[in-house]
Amino acid sequence: MNDRTPSEELRSARWFAKDDLRSFGHRSRLKGMGFDDEDYMGKPVIGILNTWSDLNTCHSHFKNRVEEIKRGVLQAGGFPVEVPVMSLGEMLMKPTTMLYRNLLAMEAEESLRCHPIDAAVLMGGCDKTVPALIMGALSANIPFLFFPAGPMLKARWKDQTLGSGTDAWKFWAERCAGNLCEGEWKEIENCIARSAGTCMTMGTASTMACIAESLGVTLPNAGSIPAVVSEHSRLAVASGRLAVDLAVQRLKPLQLLTRESFLNALITQLTLSGSTNAIVHMIAMAGRAGHRLTLDDYDAISKKVPVLADLRPSGKYLMEDFYNAGGLAALLQQLRDVLHLDAKTVNGMTLGEQIQNATVIDPLVIRDRSNPLWLTGGTCVLRGNLAPDGCVIKTVAADPKLQKHTGPALVFNSYLDMKQRINSPELPVTPESVLVLRSAGPIGAPGFPEWGMLPLPDKILKLGVRDMVRISDARMSGTSYGTCVLHVAPESHIGGPLALVQDGDLIELDVESRSLNLLVDPETLEERRRAWKKPIVRWQRGYLKMFSEHITQANQGCDFDFLHGNDADLEPEI
Ligand code: FES
Repeated sequence: MNDRTPSEELRSARWFAKDDLRSFGHRSRLKGMGFDDEDYMGKPVIGILNTWSDLNTCHSHFKNRVEEIKRGVLQAGGFPVEVPVMSLGEMLMKPTTMLYRNLLAMEAEESLRCHPIDAAVLMGGCDKTVPALIMGALSANIPFLFFPAGPMLKARWKDQTLGSGTDAWKFWAERCAGNLCEGEWKEIENCIARSAGTCMTMGTASTMACIAESLGVTLPNAGSIPAVVSEHSRLAVASGRLAVDLAVQRLKPLQLLTRESFLNALITQLTLSGSTNAIVHMIAMAGRAGHRLTLDDYDAISKKVPVLADLRPSGKYLMEDFYNAGGLAALLQQLRDVLHLDAKTVNGMTLGEQIQNATVIDPLVIRDRSNPLWLTGGTCVLRGNLAPDGCVIKTVAADPKLQKHTGPALVFNSYLDMKQRINSPELPVTPESVLVLRSAGPIGAPGFPEWGMLPLPDKILKLGVRDMVRISDARMSGTSYGTCVLHVAPESHIGGPLALVQDGDLIELDVESRSLNLLVDPETLEERRRAWKKPIVRWQRGYLKMFSEHITQANQGCDFDFLHGNDADLEPEI
């Protein structure tokens, strides 16, 4: 077997190279699948973790892309193996894909560890698939690169350009206000999702794809290439080739990703005015790599970083425009003074080298540093007696007039309560009210769903009002907008102060001073706290039981407490 014996350096050699009964079994079963020694012996085995599913609308092109990745692996002399893992399709999975992010992360980690895989290509895109796959691969510490699904093409309706999510919320408000007929609403339904790919606004999927690029775990510009253009196919082939290189170099992710890599990711999320969900995911991903990121890190950087990408929901344009304008590299090139340029990337360059030749092609989409969309603090962290462990607000997507606001609370005890009462003609609501939703956090909901952009009551919409202050322990979709205070921690289910708010209590939001306070005296709050009863947890078995016992709070990344960190050197017995 001399010239076919795999290098002892390859991890897969433990499965295939020995002259013993176990290796005989592994080799003979591959032969049973039609592979010869020439297919795999001595070659890096590249695991392609594929999150394709018929129920994941954003990954419908992955059946083609996986073949293209395999082509790249074969070109570079590797042996490609496709490994299907759980698919988290944002649109059809209920109550929320966030309930399953950690489950996919566990599956990815264990799938990588238990198989003869030397390096991996992670195929994800729809929101939670990105952090989940990266979290798992970091904990397994197997060389990998990430392959993003890419955004959908821009949608058109009449003379308007439509962006997924964002324009659905916008036109639904008009429909509720009686300004859009059924036929027009149907026309929008028919055209708003134009192609395969992820939401083409700067929602969570686009934010996380760009964050992966800024972390250095994708090929350059991978974060914005539209899903259905030929460059996306070429990206797939090139990703396959690079994975073989990573296997040969044994470039492990824990060598690659430093705390500075994650600080670059924070800067990226801020300058894109990306999804608030990404804050939770970045804390969780950093935790898997052994780095501590906090909301204070985020807020400190928020005070220095301008919003330069004019993308919906905060701005005007869509991902296809961003790609044509130069993509992430062109954007980051303008922020060299705040970035950590020495951070390494999978292609062997530093981040600074990777972006140095990038130029902005369209300054309307990627603004010049002298003409930012928002000077600093496009998203920021608030604290106060209503959120002792912090909460977040995307100021750039909120009505400036509401960013300093005091109003009476109107409390919904649960999502169901909100749905049943929000459009009641008797609802005691005015445009000054502060809508409060509780039992919507990581444990209370469960799963930390995207309920934080509470719908405005019909009677408010009919007054022509389109924004109100809303506060919850939920998240909101990255495509959402409005004066929504999110991720209030600790959540109400475990006795966070949100649990103590009563209708009519005054709540003071002051973004400039980074504060959120319930204007109720401490004695009254203490009295309410003593009377508060911890809600009964309804799920007593299975995954939901494990989830509710081990999920951490929003400010801690919502990872399971037992998954934090990694098992960098743990290898299975063979
Ligand atoms: Fe998949 Fe938006 S629904 S990215």
